[in-house]
Amino acid sequence: MEEERGLTRIGVSLPSNLLNKFDKIIRGRGYSSRSEGIRDSIRAYIIEYEWMERESGEEIGTITYLYDHSQRGLGDELTKVQHRYLGMIRTSTHIHLDEENCFEIVVMKGDAKKIKTLAEDIMSLRGVKHVKLTTTHGGI
Ligand code: NI
Repeated sequence: MEEERGLTRIGVSLPSNLLNKFDKIIRGRGYSSRSEGIRDSIRAYIIEYEWMERESGEEIGTITYLYDHSQRGLGDELTKVQHRYLGMIRTSTHIHLDEENCFEIVVMKGDAKKIKTLAEDIMSLRGVKHVKLTTTHGGI
């Protein structure tokens, strides 16, 4: 890991259940301190965000998300978004996860900027949660 010069101490207020979950994860992963876990989390967040800011180049990516199928109109909205990006979507899978939740995986190939826009269109729909975007551009 890259050596970072100059540490700044910050104070953060968090809901205790969020912190408890985080502590449990970092203990399980062998972090020596909470600070180290938080630093790594922030790095991962920055990498993800910086990818989202990429503006060009061919990428292949997946977007996964959960949604409550009883949310009025949401299923139709998701279908409409996917139809707007016909040429980019290579496949999608829908899994009825439990009584309320559906899980979808959409595999996309195309311009990085368009993949970003498609992901944002899905993320912005009310009732869509736990959105994850993964991408690669090696050797395609
Ligand atoms: Ni379903």
